[in-house]
Amino acid sequence: MDNLAGKSMMITGAARGVGRGIALAGARAGAKLWLVDRDEAALKETAEECRGAESVETLTLDITDVEAVRAQIAVLGPIDVLVNNAGIMQTKSFFEIEEEDWDRVLAVNLKAAFFLSQAVGKKMMEQKQGSIVNIASVAARWPRPLAMPYGVSKSGVLSLTRSMAAFFGEHGVRVNAVCPGAMDTEMLQRIGQERAHLFGGSPEEAILDYVGPIPMGRLGQPTDVAEAVLFLASDQARYITGQSLNVCGGWQMV
Ligand SMILES: NC(=O)c1ccc[n+]([C@@H]2O[C@H](COP(=O)([O-])OP(=O)(O)OC[C@H]3O[C@@H](n4cnc5c(N)ncnc54)[C@H](O)[C@@H]3O)[C@@H](O)[C@H]2O)c1
Repeated sequence: MDNLAGKSMMITGAARGVGRGIALAGARAGAKLWLVDRDEAALKETAEECRGAESVETLTLDITDVEAVRAQIAVLGPIDVLVNNAGIMQTKSFFEIEEEDWDRVLAVNLKAAFFLSQAVGKKMMEQKQGSIVNIASVAARWPRPLAMPYGVSKSGVLSLTRSMAAFFGEHGVRVNAVCPGAMDTEMLQRIGQERAHLFGGSPEEAILDYVGPIPMGRLGQPTDVAEAVLFLASDQARYITGQSLNVCGGWQMV
């Protein structure tokens, strides 16, 4: 597969999990990679694994720092594909959520995706082409009573996807979203621990509770999401914009 050959692709949250899977797939597709994360050591490890890429550069950055994001993007060359993947989740009951919990989740999952898209989207408009893929979640459409800031942020990501698709459409820039289900990453391990803390039982049992209702009977792997992202990012999806694609083993069917 070389459907991103010659294209430059920026992925946030690329140090581990889903973002790492997207980076490895982007490398196999022959892209020039810009990998972004705040965890420098893990980011370097991912970069070393990215075999097949035309080039691999890393940017150690907290994406909630809007000024730093703008300054970094301004000095880069063209960017053809942006994957807004970095995200955080916290399991907390309604009355325990603090203002800083709300602000942190919304800042990483939604605000950072907006301002990074604004900085990169300006380049894409000048290039008269580009593709932005936002990683949302099945939580965007389902109630999440134990992760309300997260659910709200991911619903916001879908709204942002549609609004940016409408804004950028005439400029040749497409914007789509992928909604993963329960993915086998460190984030899910943390969710298992938090749910075990709230409800008792072990983290492993809490994760198994997620698997039960998934028709395909397994957790998703980062590569499952990565292949969908690559399709939406590629010219094969040239007439697809403003859409969201569930990658969840059939867990959510709307
Ligand atoms: N794991 C799941 O079950 C699941 C389900 C649905 C959606 N998602 C979404 O997929 C995306 C990736 O999730 P994951 O499971 O790989 O998570 P993860 O926690 O395993 O990895 C997230 C990465 O993002 C980076 N990151 C977080 N905040 C950052 C910031 N401010 N600046 C720079 N980097 C930052 C972290 O350092 C980490 O490397 C997220 O948007 C998440 O909401 C995950």
